[in-house]
Amino acid sequence: MNIGIDKIDYYSPNQYVDLVDLAQRRNIEPDKFTIGIGQEKMALPLLSQDAVTMAAMAADKILNDIDKKDIELLIIGTESGVDESKASALYVRDLLGLPSSVRAFEIKEACYGTTAGLQMAYNFVAQNPEKSALIISSDIARYGLDTPGEVTQGAGSVAMLIKKNPSILKLENDSVFMSENVGDFWRPTYSQYAFARGKYSNEVYIRFFTELYKQYFEKNNNGIEDISALLFHIPYTKMGKKALQAVEELIPADKYADFMKRYESSTILSKNIGNLYTGSLYISLISYLENSDQVEADDKVMLFSYGSGSMGEIFTGKVQPGFKEKLQKKKHLDTLNNRRQLTVDEYETEFKKELEIKDGNYFVGNQTDDKFFLEQIKENERIYKSI
Ligand code: HMG
Repeated sequence: MNIGIDKIDYYSPNQYVDLVDLAQRRNIEPDKFTIGIGQEKMALPLLSQDAVTMAAMAADKILNDIDKKDIELLIIGTESGVDESKASALYVRDLLGLPSSVRAFEIKEACYGTTAGLQMAYNFVAQNPEKSALIISSDIARYGLDTPGEVTQGAGSVAMLIKKNPSILKLENDSVFMSENVGDFWRPTYSQYAFARGKYSNEVYIRFFTELYKQYFEKNNNGIEDISALLFHIPYTKMGKKALQAVEELIPADKYADFMKRYESSTILSKNIGNLYTGSLYISLISYLENSDQVEADDKVMLFSYGSGSMGEIFTGKVQPGFKEKLQKKKHLDTLNNRRQLTVDEYETEFKKELEIKDGNYFVGNQTDDKFFLEQIKENERIYKSI
């Protein structure tokens, strides 16, 4: 049975800070951010936007009433959860108006969570071919002001509808994966900010990728000529490039140059938004399918998922003939171009804002035009609203 991504879209907050402005404020040569790191703009959420509202915003873009009726599995991959106990998926189920006959929960392993959800969705549809699964990643990447990780922050979500006979990408069920207890990046429950051993995290990412890259071909008994593009988890766009460079010797020169060209198409959205944590691999898939003029039906793309801590997986998918009609290239580029630019002062002010809960209450209100928003904390409970 063919199983895979039938619909996919992303959401990111409508305001951003320009990284040239940020570099100047931090007394850093702007080329370090735009070339050395490979990032141009960074999305920033406001207080009324969180993992729940962003997840609902992305999913709302892809679902119609018929889709909603058939969904029996809803998984949200996030490391920006809003509650230590209750899953964001329950709020999202409610906001989207999904039936109660949905198995809804949250899943976590840093940036890998959504891939775990995707593989579960694959198995679910294999056992329930008439049903579908909604897999959403939703995260806010925060390292803190004036930290080395600051330039690699970002926020957003990606929603995917997984079903049989998909229109966009058929998953090939050929994964290789590995895990290790590594201290490259983590966020303790008491901290709003992630801690990273930045250079070490890059090394572990590359080590996982190169090891899995070799394992993939050994396990599946095929070669690089079968693969049309290599897509990566992109914490910042230089990272995937570094990983590709690490396997250059194993790839014929013309194929390697072609991979690099295709990789550039996969970075357009990330470059303008920043790290989406769990969604970063999947926004690079959207970016590649929309922005590369080389993609053809039946192309096999290889995807590398990496979550610090660490968990890595390589899998492939076959591009389906109907993929173009299901994508929104123009809309996405228009949305990016029409966002509100924040000055660095505005960015810093917004960044520092917190829910100032007194006696279990705080009124937020809708601070944007978003359909879904966190309205308030009432008796220590989050109250979401839609307009
Ligand atoms: P840093 O120390 O600020 O930067 O940290 P650097 O000194 O390493 O410089 C970065 C690059 O800019 C270098 O290039 C410099 O040469 C270059 P490279 O050697 O890497 O090719 N450079 C310049 N280029 C042009 N013109 C100039 C110039 N100056 C310098 N004038 C770091 C960078 C990414 C480590 C930091 O931002 C950080 O800690 N980020 C957070 C951690 C991270 O993103 N790690 C990625 C791998 S782990 C991962 O992907 C998982 C993650 O998504 C979390 C999860 O799983 O949940 C993070």
